[in-house]
Amino acid sequence: MKNKFIVLEGIDGCGKGTQIKKLHNFIFEQDKKNEIFTTREPTYGNYGMKIREILKKDNCPFKNSKNLLNLYTKDRKEHTKLIKKFISRKKGKIKYFVLSDRYYHSTYAYQQTQGIDFKIIHKTQKGFLKPDITIILDLKPEIAYKRMEDGRTSKEKFEKLEFMEELRKNFLNLREKLDENICVVDSSKSKIEVFEQIIKVLKENEIIF
Ligand code: TYD
Repeated sequence: MKNKFIVLEGIDGCGKGTQIKKLHNFIFEQDKKNEIFTTREPTYGNYGMKIREILKKDNCPFKNSKNLLNLYTKDRKEHTKLIKKFISRKKGKIKYFVLSDRYYHSTYAYQQTQGIDFKIIHKTQKGFLKPDITIILDLKPEIAYKRMEDGRTSKEKFEKLEFMEELRKNFLNLREKLDENICVVDSSKSKIEVFEQIIKVLKENEIIF
C-alpha cells in the first residue's frame, strides 16, 4: 500500500504541534500528487468536547481515569472512520497521507499513568488502525514543562511534573509492548534539528522518499 498513516506522539510540551505542521508542509511540497489529511486527538467532535471540558475542570491527574478511557476510545472510533476512509483511497498516481497528532498510543501512555492496567487498556483498543509509523518525540519532562510555562500561565490536568515523568516512561515502553513500528526522536534539540531527525526516520522506514 503506497498510502501512509503517520502518528506523532509524546508528553505535553514535546513539540508535536510544530513538527506536524512542518511535516505537512514538507510532504505537500515534495510532490503535487501527495494528498494529506492532517488531524488530531482529542477531536472537536462530541466526545472530544466532553474530554476537553474534563481536562479544563479537573486539576488532579489521577481522577476520572475510567471515564476518560471510555471517552478517548469513543472519540477514536469516530476519528478512525474518517482516517480509514481517507487512507483507503486510490486514484491514479496520487499518494494519500494521514498525519495524526496523537492516536491510541496516548491512551496506553496517559491512562496507564492514571493507574489503569495495560491489559485493560489493550482490550479497549482493538480494531483501530495500526500506523505505518509512530514517532515519539521524547524529551525530559522538565524541559517540556519549561516550554509550556513560557507559552502560557495555566496548567492542564496532566501537566504535572511527576505525572509527566511516569508518562514519559510509559510512552517509551510502548516500543516493547506493542508489536508495531514505533521510533523515538530526541525532541530536546532545536525545532530544525528535531524536524531533520523526523525526516531521516521517515526516509529510513521508506514512508517518504
Ligand atoms: P492535547 O494533545 O494537549 O490536545 P490539544 O493540544 O488539542 O489541546 O491533548 C489533550 C490532553 O489529552 C493531553 O494532556 C493528552 C491527553 N490524552 C489522553 O490522556 N489520552 C488520549 O488517548 C489522548 C488522545 C490524549
